[in-house]
Amino acid sequence: MPRWLRRLLIAAPFALFALVLLGALASHHDSVRGPDAKPLPGPPLKQIAKAHGGLLVGTAADETGLRNEPGFREDLAREFAILTPENAMKWAFVEPERGKLDWAAADRAVDFARRHGLAVRGHTLVWYSQLPGWLQDGTFSAAQLRKVMDDHIATEMGRYKGRIRTWDVVNEAVADDGTLRPSVWSDTLGPSFIADAFTTARKADPKARLAINEIGAETLGRKSDKLLEIVKALKARGLVDEVGFQSHFNLEHGVPKSMAENLRRFAALGVDVAITEADVALREPAGDDELRAQAGVYRDLVDVCRAVPRCDSLTVWGFTDRHSWIPDSSPGYGSATLLDDELRAKPAYRAFAAALAAP
Ligand code: G3I
Repeated sequence: MPRWLRRLLIAAPFALFALVLLGALASHHDSVRGPDAKPLPGPPLKQIAKAHGGLLVGTAADETGLRNEPGFREDLAREFAILTPENAMKWAFVEPERGKLDWAAADRAVDFARRHGLAVRGHTLVWYSQLPGWLQDGTFSAAQLRKVMDDHIATEMGRYKGRIRTWDVVNEAVADDGTLRPSVWSDTLGPSFIADAFTTARKADPKARLAINEIGAETLGRKSDKLLEIVKALKARGLVDEVGFQSHFNLEHGVPKSMAENLRRFAALGVDVAITEADVALREPAGDDELRAQAGVYRDLVDVCRAVPRCDSLTVWGFTDRHSWIPDSSPGYGSATLLDDELRAKPAYRAFAAALAAP
């Protein structure tokens, strides 16, 4: 056998091994990076926030993205310290038929968060919307409905006991005119449903932080006055730990001038405050000017939260335009989040990061 052939035969297994190893590394890299991920500029948002005062940066996570999209999962795990399942924990999802519980999507979100070291915001236990038909259209007496509510809170919080940092116990209880919002709950149970829900929640997971979460109460006014009154009463009974200000904005209604002052009066009651669902909807098609203006709104929001000592978390309502509730709910509007639908950083992302890092 010629010497060159002998050498080739000796070298071949090593070369083959090296090729296989390289292939395995490459495919591992792919599955970790995600073919749809784009590199984001600078350190992750949560890392910047940690180094500059410790604000926790969170995001809502769309269930489709979490389930099917590696790039989405990668950015979620890399950038954020808190995950709020966008829909998976809502009543219509977990109990579409009475007594038939479906935890698949909620479990997936909570497991993902645990694997990647994110805290979870449980969203949401008692809301007027996204209720299953059997409940929305049911004809329950007050006593029956109270039991339905208590059982739901105890069951869902019990399942995730010890794994949820904060629960949105009651969501959007106040109407824009400062009265109690009409709902299955307030119509049948009266205003006491709020304190009752919190009492049940406190028992179900005594270590979880309990929040009341409100939409459109960022500014001083009738709505936030009513919320303040509710929170004061809850706090007097030791039932509430945090007030969530959703902060759904657009360019016509950006961060209100009185927002910091408003948040401070809640904090003065001895509760934490949080930005829980921030986004900034743009009229489509959005051009450079709109994207720059949007970046300014995100920056203002970070500034407000950082200016209020008890504002300890800032959660965006989705982080990519690929998954955002805005185009569905407000036709003609979109582009509301930090990354575009290819997961590329928008000016808003850079402004958000810069505001987190500001001295
Ligand atoms: O799950 C069904 C699916 O089976 C069906 O085929 C499909 C057809 O439309 O609908 C799916 O449900 C949708 C659900 O999102 C999940 O994708 C609903 O139609 C849709 O209305 C629902 O929208 C959600 C909305 O709450 C409902 O009010 C948004 O994703 C969610 O971002 C939004 O989140 C709320 C917060 O929970 C509370 N604060 C306001 C915020 C924005 O509305």
